[in-house]
Amino acid sequence: MTGAVNIPLLQRLRNAQGAFVPVAELGAGKTLDALRTDLAELERFGFVLESHPYRGVAYRGPAARLCPDQIEHELGTRRVGRRIAVWNRVVSTNDLAAHAAASTANEGLVILAEEQTAGRGRRGRQWVAPASSSLLMSVLLFPSEHLAEAGWLTALGAVAVAEVVAAWTGLDARIKWPNDVRIAGQKIAGILVERGDGAVIGIGLNANITRADFPTELHDTATSLRILTGETVDRSELARALIRRIDDWYDRGWSLGPDALNPAWRDRSEHLGQLVQVTTPSGSHMGRLIDLDLRRGLTLAESDQNGRTRQFSVRDVLTLTPCQDGPGPNSQIVTP
Ligand code: BTN
Repeated sequence: MTGAVNIPLLQRLRNAQGAFVPVAELGAGKTLDALRTDLAELERFGFVLESHPYRGVAYRGPAARLCPDQIEHELGTRRVGRRIAVWNRVVSTNDLAAHAAASTANEGLVILAEEQTAGRGRRGRQWVAPASSSLLMSVLLFPSEHLAEAGWLTALGAVAVAEVVAAWTGLDARIKWPNDVRIAGQKIAGILVERGDGAVIGIGLNANITRADFPTELHDTATSLRILTGETVDRSELARALIRRIDDWYDRGWSLGPDALNPAWRDRSEHLGQLVQVTTPSGSHMGRLIDLDLRRGLTLAESDQNGRTRQFSVRDVLTLTPCQDGPGPNSQIVTP
């Protein structure tokens, strides 16, 4: 058992960016004993600290497990993250979020887990990640009718993840239709939207997975923040950043309407301007993707129609495959 984690103390140490902070500065308004108890509590939780007899205390690294208090601290969101639940081991975070949809009071609930025993990907596939290596997160929403389309919610999750990944790495994060976030063609995250009483946006984001952790068949097609930056990611800070981005886009959707997401979604698309093959229930079409719009759909300049354009609604598109690259494996997926 651990007691409450003193988050202001933690943030004071983190903000010093590895420098020692004198005990006198840390303990302002506290007895030395109370400060020692708080520091011991941080270490017991798993935060890595270094103490020096004269120089004070320095922050050396995040806890290996997610810290709910750290995630919630000054989160400042309007709709998403009003309640955050962190689990050790669950079947699927999407299941827990769907269960909570029995009450609309749970709008904005965020479920996080260290490990899933049967994490799901799209099309009945499995989502596999070693314990405490990733962000496994589900957000429960009760969107207005205009925002309730699975395509819009998937785009919301993908844009939010892409923005966080880009900010974290300084690299160009792109959305591969419809639900993958990739860096230089390697998948770093997947989104799974499931709808029932409410809508659940499930996100699997590879944070601290090493190359060796991936099955051999994913070595060339998957990546993680740790692989890209060479540094261990503080997953609690990552969760905070992602919850904030999701909240921001969701709130803009409510106040400005679904079109507000369009520019960011279009700009992050991996396919815009590419020659692609689109499969719909009525058949397969090849052409250059000249526009993407969540309401109007995809606009193709068809190769065999002298560049005549054709529109496909987002809902009708079953697959979208770049013609130059070929389909290739694109998921952190084990086929059952
Ligand atoms: C995909 O790429 O096919 C989507 C993968 C989505 C995985 C996440 S992990 C958290 C949430 N819970 C699940 O069971 N799935 C999603």
